[in-house]
Amino acid sequence: MSDDDIYTDVLHAGQEPDPATGSRAPPIYQTTSYVFDDADHAAELFALDGEPMSYAAAYTGKNIYSRIMNPTTMMLENRLAKLEGGIGCMTTASGMAALDLATFLLAKTGDNIVTASALYGGTYTYFTHTAKRRGIEARFVDTLDYDAYEDAIDENTAYVHAETIGNPALVTPDLERLAAIAHDNEVPLFIDNTFATPYLCQPFEHGADLIWESTTKWIHGSGSTIGGALIDSGGTPWAEWGYEEIGEDNPAYHGINFAEEFGDAAFTFAARARGLRDLGNQQSPFDGWVTMQKLESLPLRMQRHSDNAMAVAEYLEDHPAVSWVNYPGLESHETHENATKYLKNGYGGMITFGVEGGYEVGRTICDSVELASLLANVGDAKTLIIHPSSTTHQQLSDEEKQASGVTDDLVRLSVGLEAVDDIIADLDQAIDAAT
Ligand SMILES: Cc1ncc(COP(=O)(O)O)c(C=O)c1O
Repeated sequence: MSDDDIYTDVLHAGQEPDPATGSRAPPIYQTTSYVFDDADHAAELFALDGEPMSYAAAYTGKNIYSRIMNPTTMMLENRLAKLEGGIGCMTTASGMAALDLATFLLAKTGDNIVTASALYGGTYTYFTHTAKRRGIEARFVDTLDYDAYEDAIDENTAYVHAETIGNPALVTPDLERLAAIAHDNEVPLFIDNTFATPYLCQPFEHGADLIWESTTKWIHGSGSTIGGALIDSGGTPWAEWGYEEIGEDNPAYHGINFAEEFGDAAFTFAARARGLRDLGNQQSPFDGWVTMQKLESLPLRMQRHSDNAMAVAEYLEDHPAVSWVNYPGLESHETHENATKYLKNGYGGMITFGVEGGYEVGRTICDSVELASLLANVGDAKTLIIHPSSTTHQQLSDEEKQASGVTDDLVRLSVGLEAVDDIIADLDQAIDAAT
């Protein structure tokens, strides 16, 4: 896709005027169920015949039940699949639900997950506690230590996982190298693209097999709707690589072999018919509709987030009281080279920085801002600030904090769309007040 196609796709991909009413805006199909033509039609849909999983099918009455598919969320799903360059997408109730949906399909008791350590705190906890309760071991490796990934993978590895821009250290691993390591070992590369969005990075172009993202953040962009998405690149050789839910006769779905039946789209069909059906973690039609409205302006917003963040990072870098600034767009950033290779159009809206004085000063800056909001979210149109060590990462041990890159002085900033001078003036007075 050329860089400009995204401006058209955010408006048109996956949606046509509603065939029933002509409505140009996407309708909200707020329904649980769909009337079958007759008993044969019902039986055909339950057998997954006649491609009941595509948006085109959803338009023509090939729906079963809204826990598995819904025409409104399918519009969003097809749009996100196109934006990421994938072949299928499942929207979920939250970003975490998308991670769980993929983990449910790929990992069973006794398996392990090899993951970069620079992670969102919730993902870290999911791996260390939730996955563990199900007998799945998380193996954390230094995000940039490629030999460590190689060493940690064994025959029970379910997937290799990393974030495009790791939260909160904002490191970008060498995605192509990670894909090569994973594929040499016959496991998929699973990427959290939340901080980049498809406007800045399309991980499938660099070898990823699956993407998840929290649509709660920049995809939506106004902090009013929790949601997630799991996107399938298509064509991963699941059967060859021994993924039983997808590549073997599946007793949980009357013996269907998703790989044989659906070829390149095997994961998408399995995620919907096995995953969403049994976990019930689908996105609601209303949330899908709201997210579609906001997605239309993603490229415009993401560009401004990135431009504003660059200016704020440069200001912080020049501030005498600021001891360090992490922004992937700065040449001083540890993975500036990877970020420049894998991100296009800009470096995103996230900055972390530290001010002399450590823990207390970090907290006082958060208490002193007037324009920025102190809260636990990122990717809002408004500028957001938080002190992770005392909040989002509070429950991690010192060792875990260190592995995730959360130092005591670290302040995390999600740079919004306001006038950049106002954002800088607010930070200026807050740093003055704290120091
Ligand atoms: C990088 C990243 N991934 C995933 C999530 C989880 O998303 P959600 O809150 O939609 O479950 C978050 C939430 O902050 C995040 O920052």
